[in-house]
Amino acid sequence: MIIQNKRLFSRQTAISRRLLWGFILFSGTSYSVFTISFNAVKFTQNPTSIVTETVMHHHLIMPNIYVCPNSQHSKWRIEHNYPDHNRLYRYISTFYGNGEDHHGEELNLTRFDDIPLDEFLANTAPNLKPLRCKFNMRDCPAPTYRLTRYGICQYYSFDNSTVSIPGPQSSLILYVAYNNSDTTTGYALSKSALFHDFSDQKHDVMLMSQSTTVLANRLTQVTLYPQEYTYLKPHCGTKKLDFFKQYTTEECHVECSYKAVMDKCKCWPPYFPIYKKEYPMCTFSEHARCISKEYNSFNYSTCGDCPKPCHDLVFNRNVEYGEFHEPIQRLIKKYKLTKRL
Ligand SMILES: *[C@@H]1O[C@H](CO)[C@@H](O)[C@H](O)[C@H]1NC(C)=O
Ligand SMILES: *[C@@H]1O[C@H](CO)[C@@H](O)[C@H](O)[C@H]1NC(C)=O
Ligand SMILES: *[C@@H]1O[C@H](CO)[C@@H](O)[C@H](O)[C@H]1NC(C)=O
Ligand SMILES: *[C@@H]1O[C@H](CO)[C@@H](O)[C@H](O)[C@H]1NC(C)=O
Repeated sequence: MIIQNKRLFSRQTAISRRLLWGFILFSGTSYSVFTISFNAVKFTQNPTSIVTETVMHHHLIMPNIYVCPNSQHSKWRIEHNYPDHNRLYRYISTFYGNGEDHHGEELNLTRFDDIPLDEFLANTAPNLKPLRCKFNMRDCPAPTYRLTRYGICQYYSFDNSTVSIPGPQSSLILYVAYNNSDTTTGYALSKSALFHDFSDQKHDVMLMSQSTTVLANRLTQVTLYPQEYTYLKPHCGTKKLDFFKQYTTEECHVECSYKAVMDKCKCWPPYFPIYKKEYPMCTFSEHARCISKEYNSFNYSTCGDCPKPCHDLVFNRNVEYGEFHEPIQRLIKKYKLTKRL
Protein backbone atom coordinates (compact mmCIF):
# COMPACT_ATOMS: atom_id res chain seq x y z
CA MET A 1 0.00 0.00 0.00
CA ILE A 2 2.78 2.44 0.87
CA ILE A 3 4.57 1.79 -2.40
CA GLN A 4 1.36 2.19 -4.30
CA ASN A 5 0.65 5.56 -2.67
CA LYS A 6 4.08 6.86 -3.55
CA ARG A 7 3.64 5.95 -7.17
CA LEU A 8 0.19 7.36 -7.39
CA PHE A 9 1.26 10.79 -6.27
CA SER A 10 4.76 11.03 -7.79
CA ARG A 11 5.05 13.32 -10.77
CA GLN A 12 7.15 11.05 -12.95
CA THR A 13 4.39 8.53 -13.22
CA ALA A 14 2.48 8.81 -16.45
CA ILE A 15 -1.23 9.53 -16.25
CA SER A 16 -2.21 6.15 -17.59
CA ARG A 17 -0.07 4.38 -15.03
CA ARG A 18 -1.47 6.60 -12.28
CA LEU A 19 -4.92 5.59 -13.29
CA LEU A 20 -3.95 1.95 -13.30
CA TRP A 21 -2.35 2.14 -9.86
CA GLY A 22 -5.23 4.22 -8.61
CA PHE A 23 -7.63 1.61 -9.80
CA ILE A 24 -5.71 -1.21 -8.18
CA LEU A 25 -5.47 0.72 -4.93
CA PHE A 26 -9.15 1.56 -5.02
CA SER A 27 -10.35 -1.89 -5.83
CA GLY A 28 -8.07 -3.31 -3.16
CA THR A 29 -9.35 -0.88 -0.56
CA SER A 30 -12.99 -1.19 -1.48
CA TYR A 31 -12.66 -4.96 -1.50
CA SER A 32 -11.21 -4.96 1.98
CA VAL A 33 -13.86 -2.52 3.19
CA PHE A 34 -16.48 -4.80 1.68
CA THR A 35 -15.11 -7.92 3.31
CA ILE A 36 -14.69 -6.21 6.66
CA SER A 37 -18.23 -4.87 6.63
CA PHE A 38 -19.54 -8.20 5.38
CA ASN A 39 -17.80 -10.03 8.21
CA ALA A 40 -18.99 -7.44 10.69
CA VAL A 41 -22.57 -7.97 9.56
CA LYS A 42 -22.10 -11.72 9.74
CA PHE A 43 -20.57 -11.44 13.18
CA THR A 44 -23.37 -9.32 14.62
CA GLN A 45 -26.00 -11.59 13.12
CA ASN A 46 -24.40 -14.84 14.13
CA PRO A 47 -21.52 -14.28 16.52
CA THR A 48 -18.92 -16.99 16.36
CA SER A 49 -15.68 -17.19 18.18
CA ILE A 50 -13.24 -20.02 18.39
CA VAL A 51 -11.13 -20.52 21.45
CA THR A 52 -8.51 -23.19 21.23
CA GLU A 53 -7.10 -24.65 24.33
CA THR A 54 -4.69 -27.52 24.64
CA VAL A 55 -5.49 -29.79 27.54
CA MET A 56 -3.26 -32.66 28.60
CA HIS A 57 -5.20 -35.81 29.31
CA HIS A 58 -4.26 -37.73 32.40
CA HIS A 59 -5.23 -40.83 30.57
CA LEU A 60 -6.11 -41.36 26.97
CA ILE A 61 -8.50 -44.21 26.30
CA MET A 62 -7.44 -46.48 23.47
CA PRO A 63 -10.20 -46.67 20.88
CA ASN A 64 -11.35 -50.05 19.66
CA ILE A 65 -10.06 -50.88 16.23
CA TYR A 66 -11.54 -52.63 13.24
CA VAL A 67 -9.14 -54.17 10.76
CA CYS A 68 -10.82 -54.79 7.43
CA PRO A 69 -9.29 -56.36 4.35
CA ASN A 70 -9.25 -54.18 1.26
CA SER A 71 -11.40 -56.61 -0.65
CA GLN A 72 -14.60 -57.67 1.04
CA HIS A 73 -14.64 -61.09 -0.61
CA SER A 74 -12.00 -63.65 -1.36
CA LYS A 75 -11.94 -64.73 -4.98
CA TRP A 76 -10.81 -68.28 -4.30
CA ARG A 77 -13.46 -68.72 -1.60
CA ILE A 78 -16.18 -67.53 -3.98
CA GLU A 79 -15.07 -70.07 -6.56
CA HIS A 80 -14.62 -72.80 -3.97
CA ASN A 81 -18.00 -72.25 -2.25
CA TYR A 82 -20.16 -71.41 -5.24
CA PRO A 83 -18.99 -73.61 -8.12
CA ASP A 84 -22.52 -73.74 -9.54
CA HIS A 85 -22.74 -69.99 -9.82
CA ASN A 86 -20.62 -69.48 -12.81
CA ARG A 87 -18.28 -66.48 -12.66
CA LEU A 88 -19.90 -65.05 -9.56
CA TYR A 89 -16.63 -63.35 -8.60
CA ARG A 90 -16.85 -61.20 -11.71
CA TYR A 91 -20.02 -59.59 -10.40
CA ILE A 92 -18.58 -58.37 -7.09
CA SER A 93 -18.08 -54.80 -8.15
CA THR A 94 -21.57 -54.79 -9.69
CA PHE A 95 -22.81 -56.03 -6.32
CA TYR A 96 -21.30 -52.93 -4.71
CA GLY A 97 -22.55 -50.64 -7.45
CA ASN A 98 -19.15 -49.98 -8.98
CA GLY A 99 -18.49 -50.38 -12.65
CA GLU A 100 -19.26 -53.24 -14.92
CA ASP A 101 -16.91 -56.13 -14.43
CA HIS A 102 -18.77 -58.75 -16.46
CA HIS A 103 -17.07 -57.86 -19.74
CA GLY A 104 -20.10 -57.80 -21.96
CA GLU A 105 -21.77 -60.91 -20.56
CA GLU A 106 -25.52 -60.70 -20.27
CA LEU A 107 -26.39 -59.16 -16.94
CA ASN A 108 -28.75 -61.62 -15.28
CA LEU A 109 -28.16 -60.95 -11.62
CA THR A 110 -31.24 -62.88 -10.49
CA ARG A 111 -29.34 -66.14 -11.03
CA PHE A 112 -27.44 -65.36 -7.81
CA ASP A 113 -30.60 -64.64 -5.82
CA ASP A 114 -30.74 -68.11 -4.27
CA ILE A 115 -27.61 -67.30 -2.22
CA PRO A 116 -28.54 -65.74 1.14
CA LEU A 117 -26.40 -62.63 1.53
CA ASP A 118 -25.48 -63.20 5.17
CA GLU A 119 -24.15 -66.62 4.23
CA PHE A 120 -22.41 -65.19 1.18
CA LEU A 121 -20.60 -62.57 3.28
CA ALA A 122 -19.56 -65.17 5.84
CA ASN A 123 -18.44 -67.80 3.32
CA THR A 124 -16.37 -65.49 1.18
CA ALA A 125 -14.65 -63.32 3.77
CA PRO A 126 -10.92 -63.06 3.19
CA ASN A 127 -8.75 -64.31 5.98
CA LEU A 128 -6.39 -62.22 8.03
CA LYS A 129 -3.89 -63.85 10.30
CA PRO A 130 -2.63 -61.65 13.12
CA LEU A 131 1.10 -62.34 13.49
CA ARG A 132 1.78 -60.01 16.32
CA CYS A 133 -0.29 -57.50 18.23
CA LYS A 134 0.99 -55.43 21.12
CA PHE A 135 -0.51 -52.55 23.00
CA ASN A 136 1.13 -50.83 25.97
CA MET A 137 3.87 -53.42 25.46
CA ARG A 138 1.47 -56.23 26.30
CA ASP A 139 -0.32 -58.72 24.05
CA CYS A 140 -3.60 -57.46 22.60
CA PRO A 141 -6.87 -59.15 23.47
CA ALA A 142 -7.83 -61.78 20.88
CA PRO A 143 -9.80 -60.23 18.03
CA THR A 144 -13.39 -61.08 17.33
CA TYR A 145 -15.00 -60.99 13.90
CA ARG A 146 -17.72 -58.49 13.08
CA LEU A 147 -19.81 -57.96 10.02
CA THR A 148 -19.61 -54.36 8.85
CA ARG A 149 -20.31 -52.44 5.70
CA TYR A 150 -16.71 -53.26 4.75
CA GLY A 151 -17.19 -56.99 5.05
CA ILE A 152 -16.18 -59.17 7.97
CA CYS A 153 -13.55 -57.32 9.95
CA GLN A 154 -11.36 -58.16 12.89
CA TYR A 155 -12.34 -56.19 15.93
CA TYR A 156 -9.85 -55.42 18.68
CA SER A 157 -11.50 -54.28 21.85
CA PHE A 158 -9.17 -52.66 24.33
CA ASP A 159 -11.73 -52.54 27.16
CA ASN A 160 -11.14 -48.90 27.96
CA SER A 161 -7.41 -49.45 28.39
CA THR A 162 -5.50 -46.26 28.70
CA VAL A 163 -2.36 -45.28 26.95
CA SER A 164 -0.08 -45.26 29.98
CA ILE A 165 3.17 -44.14 28.40
CA PRO A 166 3.04 -41.52 25.69
CA GLY A 167 5.10 -42.36 22.64
CA PRO A 168 5.64 -45.26 20.32
CA GLN A 169 6.35 -47.76 23.13
CA SER A 170 2.73 -47.76 24.20
CA SER A 171 1.14 -47.62 20.79
CA LEU A 172 -0.70 -50.43 19.11
CA ILE A 173 1.61 -52.54 17.00
CA LEU A 174 -0.14 -54.94 14.69
CA TYR A 175 1.21 -57.22 11.98
CA VAL A 176 -1.29 -59.16 9.94
CA ALA A 177 -0.71 -61.66 7.15
CA TYR A 178 -3.19 -62.30 4.38
CA ASN A 179 -3.50 -64.95 1.72
CA ASN A 180 -2.29 -63.69 -1.63
CA SER A 181 -5.06 -65.54 -3.40
CA ASP A 182 -7.68 -63.64 -1.41
CA THR A 183 -7.11 -60.97 -4.10
CA THR A 184 -6.49 -58.37 -1.50
CA THR A 185 -4.10 -55.59 -2.33
CA GLY A 186 -3.21 -55.44 1.33
CA TYR A 187 -5.33 -55.17 4.38
CA ALA A 188 -6.86 -51.99 5.59
CA LEU A 189 -6.64 -50.51 8.97
CA SER A 190 -9.35 -48.09 8.27
CA LYS A 191 -11.51 -44.81 8.81
CA SER A 192 -11.38 -41.13 9.26
CA ALA A 193 -14.29 -40.62 11.61
CA LEU A 194 -15.44 -42.48 14.66
CA PHE A 195 -17.42 -45.55 13.97
CA HIS A 196 -19.38 -47.01 16.84
CA ASP A 197 -20.89 -49.90 14.96
CA PHE A 198 -23.71 -50.59 17.39
CA SER A 199 -21.39 -51.39 20.27
CA ASP A 200 -21.34 -50.06 23.79
CA GLN A 201 -17.86 -48.73 23.48
CA LYS A 202 -17.63 -45.02 23.28
CA HIS A 203 -14.57 -44.57 21.17
CA ASP A 204 -14.44 -47.26 18.53
CA VAL A 205 -12.44 -46.27 15.53
CA MET A 206 -12.89 -47.70 12.14
CA LEU A 207 -10.26 -46.81 9.63
CA MET A 208 -11.80 -47.29 6.22
CA SER A 209 -10.02 -48.90 3.32
CA GLN A 210 -10.87 -45.84 1.23
CA SER A 211 -8.76 -43.67 3.47
CA THR A 212 -6.04 -45.95 4.75
CA THR A 213 -4.57 -48.39 2.31
CA VAL A 214 -1.94 -50.68 3.58
CA LEU A 215 0.74 -51.22 0.99
CA ALA A 216 2.37 -54.60 0.55
CA ASN A 217 5.94 -54.74 1.88
CA ARG A 218 5.57 -51.34 3.50
CA LEU A 219 5.17 -50.40 7.10
CA THR A 220 1.97 -48.42 7.57
CA GLN A 221 1.92 -46.10 10.50
CA VAL A 222 -1.38 -44.56 11.50
CA THR A 223 -1.27 -41.87 14.13
CA LEU A 224 -4.52 -40.92 15.81
CA TYR A 225 -4.78 -37.51 17.37
CA PRO A 226 -7.73 -37.21 19.70
CA GLN A 227 -9.44 -33.83 19.72
CA GLU A 228 -12.14 -32.82 22.08
CA TYR A 229 -14.60 -30.11 21.10
CA THR A 230 -17.09 -28.17 23.13
CA TYR A 231 -19.77 -26.23 21.28
CA LEU A 232 -21.91 -23.62 22.91
CA LYS A 233 -25.68 -23.66 23.00
CA PRO A 234 -27.79 -23.04 20.94
CA HIS A 235 -25.32 -24.12 18.23
CA CYS A 236 -25.23 -27.68 19.45
CA GLY A 237 -27.70 -30.34 20.45
CA THR A 238 -28.42 -34.00 20.51
CA LYS A 239 -31.00 -36.47 19.25
CA LYS A 240 -31.91 -40.00 20.15
CA LEU A 241 -30.60 -42.43 17.57
CA ASP A 242 -32.07 -45.88 16.96
CA PHE A 243 -28.93 -47.58 15.68
CA PHE A 244 -26.30 -45.94 17.85
CA LYS A 245 -26.08 -45.41 21.58
CA GLN A 246 -23.90 -42.36 21.44
CA TYR A 247 -24.96 -39.31 19.45
CA THR A 248 -22.58 -37.80 16.89
CA THR A 249 -23.35 -35.82 13.74
CA GLU A 250 -21.81 -38.53 11.52
CA GLU A 251 -23.89 -41.24 13.10
CA CYS A 252 -27.02 -39.18 12.73
CA HIS A 253 -26.20 -38.96 9.01
CA VAL A 254 -25.30 -42.64 8.79
CA GLU A 255 -28.58 -43.66 10.44
CA CYS A 256 -30.53 -41.36 8.17
CA SER A 257 -28.88 -42.83 5.08
CA TYR A 258 -29.36 -46.46 6.21
CA LYS A 259 -33.06 -45.87 6.88
CA ALA A 260 -33.65 -44.02 3.62
CA VAL A 261 -31.89 -46.71 1.60
CA MET A 262 -33.84 -49.53 3.26
CA ASP A 263 -37.14 -47.65 2.86
CA LYS A 264 -36.40 -47.12 -0.80
CA CYS A 265 -35.34 -50.71 -1.54
CA LYS A 266 -37.75 -52.38 0.94
CA CYS A 267 -35.11 -54.87 2.02
CA TRP A 268 -32.37 -55.24 4.60
CA PRO A 269 -28.68 -55.75 3.79
CA PRO A 270 -27.27 -57.97 6.54
CA TYR A 271 -24.51 -55.53 7.46
CA PHE A 272 -27.06 -52.85 8.41
CA PRO A 273 -28.88 -52.96 11.74
CA ILE A 274 -32.41 -54.35 11.66
CA TYR A 275 -34.81 -51.51 11.03
CA LYS A 276 -38.29 -52.74 10.11
CA LYS A 277 -39.22 -56.38 10.64
CA GLU A 278 -41.23 -56.49 7.42
CA TYR A 279 -38.13 -55.86 5.31
CA PRO A 280 -36.65 -59.21 4.29
CA MET A 281 -32.95 -59.71 3.70
CA CYS A 282 -31.98 -58.31 0.31
CA THR A 283 -31.16 -60.64 -2.54
CA PHE A 284 -28.02 -60.35 -4.63
CA SER A 285 -29.81 -58.53 -7.44
CA GLU A 286 -31.71 -56.18 -5.09
CA HIS A 287 -28.43 -55.32 -3.45
CA ALA A 288 -26.68 -54.62 -6.74
CA ARG A 289 -29.54 -52.75 -8.38
CA CYS A 290 -30.99 -50.84 -5.47
CA ILE A 291 -29.03 -50.82 -2.19
CA SER A 292 -25.64 -50.01 -3.72
CA LYS A 293 -27.02 -47.42 -6.11
CA GLU A 294 -29.08 -45.65 -3.45
CA TYR A 295 -26.32 -45.77 -0.88
CA ASN A 296 -23.56 -44.57 -3.19
CA SER A 297 -25.59 -41.62 -4.42
CA PHE A 298 -27.24 -40.75 -1.13
CA ASN A 299 -27.79 -37.00 -0.63
CA TYR A 300 -26.98 -36.24 3.00
CA SER A 301 -28.50 -32.77 2.80
CA THR A 302 -31.91 -34.41 2.79
CA CYS A 303 -31.30 -35.61 6.36
CA GLY A 304 -32.45 -32.41 7.99
CA ASP A 305 -31.45 -31.77 11.54
CA CYS A 306 -28.29 -33.48 12.69
CA PRO A 307 -26.87 -30.95 15.18
CA LYS A 308 -23.29 -30.88 16.38
CA PRO A 309 -23.02 -32.55 19.77
CA CYS A 310 -22.15 -30.14 22.58
CA HIS A 311 -19.13 -32.28 23.47
CA ASP A 312 -17.35 -34.23 20.83
CA LEU A 313 -14.25 -36.35 20.72
CA VAL A 314 -12.86 -37.04 17.29
CA PHE A 315 -9.74 -38.82 16.16
CA ASN A 316 -7.79 -37.23 13.36
CA ARG A 317 -5.56 -39.55 11.44
CA ASN A 318 -2.16 -39.28 9.93
CA VAL A 319 -0.90 -42.10 7.74
CA GLU A 320 2.73 -42.68 6.84
CA TYR A 321 4.43 -45.48 4.99
CA GLY A 322 7.92 -46.64 5.71
CA GLU A 323 10.41 -49.43 5.32
CA PHE A 324 9.98 -52.50 7.50
CA HIS A 325 12.28 -52.52 10.46
CA GLU A 326 14.71 -55.36 10.95
CA PRO A 327 12.60 -57.15 13.65
CA ILE A 328 9.64 -57.20 11.25
CA GLN A 329 11.79 -58.67 8.50
CA ARG A 330 12.84 -61.42 10.92
CA LEU A 331 9.23 -62.01 11.93
CA ILE A 332 8.15 -62.33 8.30
CA LYS A 333 11.01 -64.73 7.60
CA LYS A 334 10.07 -66.81 10.61
CA TYR A 335 6.43 -66.90 9.54
CA LYS A 336 7.32 -68.02 6.02
CA LEU A 337 9.55 -70.71 7.48
CA THR A 338 6.91 -72.14 9.83
CA LYS A 339 4.38 -72.10 7.03
CA ARG A 340 6.59 -74.24 4.85
CA LEU A 341 7.25 -76.84 7.55
C1 LIG B 1 -32.08 -65.16 -15.23
O1 LIG B 1 -31.69 -66.30 -14.41
C2 LIG B 1 -32.77 -66.93 -13.77
C3 LIG B 1 -32.20 -68.01 -12.85
O2 LIG B 1 -31.15 -68.71 -13.44
C4 LIG B 1 -33.74 -67.49 -14.82
O3 LIG B 1 -34.84 -68.11 -14.19
C5 LIG B 1 -34.23 -66.33 -15.69
O4 LIG B 1 -35.05 -66.83 -16.73
C6 LIG B 1 -33.04 -65.56 -16.29
N1 LIG B 1 -33.55 -64.35 -16.96
C7 LIG B 1 -33.16 -64.00 -18.17
C8 LIG B 1 -33.76 -62.74 -18.72
O5 LIG B 1 -32.34 -64.64 -18.83
C1 LIG C 1 -15.87 -49.01 29.21
O1 LIG C 1 -16.48 -47.75 29.41
C2 LIG C 1 -17.86 -47.73 29.16
C3 LIG C 1 -18.38 -46.32 29.27
O2 LIG C 1 -17.46 -45.48 29.84
C4 LIG C 1 -18.58 -48.68 30.12
O3 LIG C 1 -19.96 -48.68 29.86
C5 LIG C 1 -18.01 -50.08 29.93
O4 LIG C 1 -18.59 -50.96 30.86
C6 LIG C 1 -16.50 -50.07 30.12
N1 LIG C 1 -15.97 -51.39 29.78
C7 LIG C 1 -15.14 -52.05 30.56
C8 LIG C 1 -14.72 -53.41 30.12
O5 LIG C 1 -14.72 -51.58 31.60
C1 LIG D 1 -4.81 -69.58 0.53
O1 LIG D 1 -5.40 -69.67 -0.73
C2 LIG D 1 -5.39 -70.95 -1.31
C3 LIG D 1 -6.08 -70.86 -2.65
O2 LIG D 1 -5.34 -70.16 -3.58
C4 LIG D 1 -6.09 -71.96 -0.43
O3 LIG D 1 -6.03 -73.25 -1.02
C5 LIG D 1 -5.43 -71.97 0.93
O4 LIG D 1 -6.12 -72.83 1.80
C6 LIG D 1 -5.44 -70.55 1.52
N1 LIG D 1 -4.73 -70.56 2.79
C7 LIG D 1 -5.26 -70.09 3.91
C8 LIG D 1 -4.39 -70.15 5.11
O5 LIG D 1 -6.39 -69.63 3.95
C1 LIG E 1 -29.63 -32.65 -2.14
O1 LIG E 1 -30.75 -32.25 -1.39
C2 LIG E 1 -30.86 -30.85 -1.22
C3 LIG E 1 -32.00 -30.56 -0.24
O2 LIG E 1 -33.12 -31.36 -0.48
C4 LIG E 1 -31.06 -30.20 -2.58
O3 LIG E 1 -31.16 -28.80 -2.44
C5 LIG E 1 -29.87 -30.55 -3.47
O4 LIG E 1 -30.06 -30.03 -4.78
C6 LIG E 1 -29.68 -32.05 -3.54
N1 LIG E 1 -28.44 -32.35 -4.24
C7 LIG E 1 -28.37 -33.23 -5.23
C8 LIG E 1 -27.05 -33.41 -5.83
O5 LIG E 1 -29.34 -33.84 -5.62
